[in-house]
Amino acid sequence: MMAFKITDKVTWVGKIDWDLETFHGEEYSTHKGSTYNAYLIQDDKTVLIDTVWTPFKEEFVAELKKVISLEKIDYIVMNHGEADHSGALPELMRLIPDTPIYCTANGVKSLKGQYHKDWDFRVVKTGEKLSLGTRDLLFIEAPMLHWPDSMFCYLTGDDILFSNDAFGQHYATELMYNDLVDKAELDYECIKYYANILTPFSRLVTRKIQEFIDLNLPVSFICPSHGVIWRENPLQIVEQYNVWANSYQENQITIMYDTMWDGTKKMANAIAQGIKAANPSLTIKLYHIANRDRNDVLTEVFKSKAIFLGSPTVNRTILSTVAAMIEAMKGLGFTNKKAAAFGTYGWSGEAIKVISARLEDAGFEVINPGIRGLYNPDEGVIEQCYALGEEMVRAINL
Ligand code: FEO
Repeated sequence: MMAFKITDKVTWVGKIDWDLETFHGEEYSTHKGSTYNAYLIQDDKTVLIDTVWTPFKEEFVAELKKVISLEKIDYIVMNHGEADHSGALPELMRLIPDTPIYCTANGVKSLKGQYHKDWDFRVVKTGEKLSLGTRDLLFIEAPMLHWPDSMFCYLTGDDILFSNDAFGQHYATELMYNDLVDKAELDYECIKYYANILTPFSRLVTRKIQEFIDLNLPVSFICPSHGVIWRENPLQIVEQYNVWANSYQENQITIMYDTMWDGTKKMANAIAQGIKAANPSLTIKLYHIANRDRNDVLTEVFKSKAIFLGSPTVNRTILSTVAAMIEAMKGLGFTNKKAAAFGTYGWSGEAIKVISARLEDAGFEVINPGIRGLYNPDEGVIEQCYALGEEMVRAINL
């Protein structure tokens, strides 16, 4: 970790984690690692905003000491209590135990719940300010972006929004600014992060953005707690979030299946051919989900107007890979997406009913009872799958 200055008064003091392969335990794949961004403001008063994840607590404190004597830190601001930002706090507080910690009321609950310490918490609400001398730090609560405790803060003078998880990406880079990194890499990590983490809170995203815009504050930088700092046209990511938060869709259909002896796979391919015949310019994504990264597939679902989900019938139900995908989609709460089921069977054949019911429960509009193929699908079943692909294209008006 090498600290660097963002402005004369603001220094990044976080951790770039090139080795991170999964985040939230095993829940989120981080093919490009991540960063835990912490920031130090040195005005008349000195403020630390957030810390880093627990495994890096000693490194964090050692590096912070190179930038400033710890006793010179007047205030700590914890925008969010999740361990990726608060993990190094106990180590820091062991050394400077009397330093006040500014956070929301839910922040106190979260930090006490995790660390069981009676630190000097100072509860702040939206609109309250902390005077640092030549600058103020303005607090803006942002519940559920990403936990109930989350908040943003805004530094006057330098015009910096410290947005914590919002506007972040799991993306390790030494370049650390949006205008310096590969745009395609950045774009992908932003949409994957939104799709997999923020989709359930889309309505809150829209409201919070409007609330921030209504404050009419100039923004020169958006400094999130993961990934790059937005410096070139920083509000572009805010505008993008507004688009994503509004039942985002591209002209795409995603077909997902698991298969045992390739029968359900043949059906998936026939559906893809039907879609292509109906509209050759539609983007089709076709995944054997047992072999694919779940978060990458969910990102494609996020982009889709419609999905197909296929499983053979096994023990009167569906394969667990397919069940897990439905559970993940339900949790994310996708809106305004159509769906249909398919799959092979040998005798009882419940899979398409199970999938259709669970997709409806997960908020999808199921447009057709689904197609069943007995054992190895014959020409008739393949034609039905082809027709189902065409039907879906008509259903989404493309
Ligand atoms: Fe990056 Fe919700 O923590």
